[in-house]
Amino acid sequence: MKLQGKLALVTGAYRGIGRACAEALAREGARVIATDIFTEAPSYDTDILYRQCDVGSETDWERIGREIDAGDGKIDILVNAAGVAPTKDGVHDVTMADWDFILRVNQTGVMLGMRMATARMLGKGSLSIVNISSIWGQVAGTGQIAYHASKGAVINMTRNVAVTYAKQGIRANVILPGLIDTEMVRVQKPEMNAATLALTPMGRIGRPEEIADGAVFLASDASSFVTGAVLPIDGGFTAQ
Ligand SMILES: NC(=O)c1ccc[n+]([C@@H]2O[C@H](COP(=O)([O-])OP(=O)(O)OC[C@H]3O[C@@H](n4cnc5c(N)ncnc54)[C@H](O)[C@@H]3O)[C@@H](O)[C@H]2O)c1
Repeated sequence: MKLQGKLALVTGAYRGIGRACAEALAREGARVIATDIFTEAPSYDTDILYRQCDVGSETDWERIGREIDAGDGKIDILVNAAGVAPTKDGVHDVTMADWDFILRVNQTGVMLGMRMATARMLGKGSLSIVNISSIWGQVAGTGQIAYHASKGAVINMTRNVAVTYAKQGIRANVILPGLIDTEMVRVQKPEMNAATLALTPMGRIGRPEEIADGAVFLASDASSFVTGAVLPIDGGFTAQ
């Protein structure tokens, strides 16, 4: 087991990619705190502690931080997977409500998670942060202006944290999932998913577990010299 003795926190872990990451980390021996916006815990296939945390809420993160402090005050792994997809299309019709909502969860949420974890781990040992961005953080599709903005920010926030704390045992890396079979995709317009699929060289949709495999690698000591890396897990989409 690659993560024995480590404490991992995963956001957006009620379902989808976050859930797959939480379960994969737990299978590798990590103690996992899974968080999401819902108050009721889902049933996991492994032993996982669940806590409600709205990633955009400073107060919720402070509560999570106090719980970690009540233990030994250390966190070894943070996976920021919580995210929301757009309800509006192009910049011409984006509303401020939509813009603020998406940036609050996808961008501010990642910053608050990284703040909680780095503040606790500076001078205390190693921390591996794995952020979940998107292919749309690196290249452009049509529409979804707020989603693109937030996911691009996640990539460069990750690089910033990687460089800032490189000598202090803190690593930060970012995964760019392509089209992955989750609820987020299932509720999207079918023609939007079909267009992404048509441009995916492997010609298939990915599984949440394939993102989790990347997260386990980046969380573990197998990637001890890797920081600031941008890892597409996208069936070749961004290679084109
Ligand atoms: N599925 C894809 O094709 C795909 C592609 C690229 C990137 N992503 C990214 O992967 C991540 C996971 O998405 P997914 O596909 O599993 O979607 P999903 O909708 O299945 O899961 C997202 C999870 O985030 C949670 N969440 C939403 N708002 C939250 C908040 N304010 N606080 C805490 N949790 C919140 C949801 O409750 C949900 O459990 C997201 O960041 C998403 O942008 C997904």
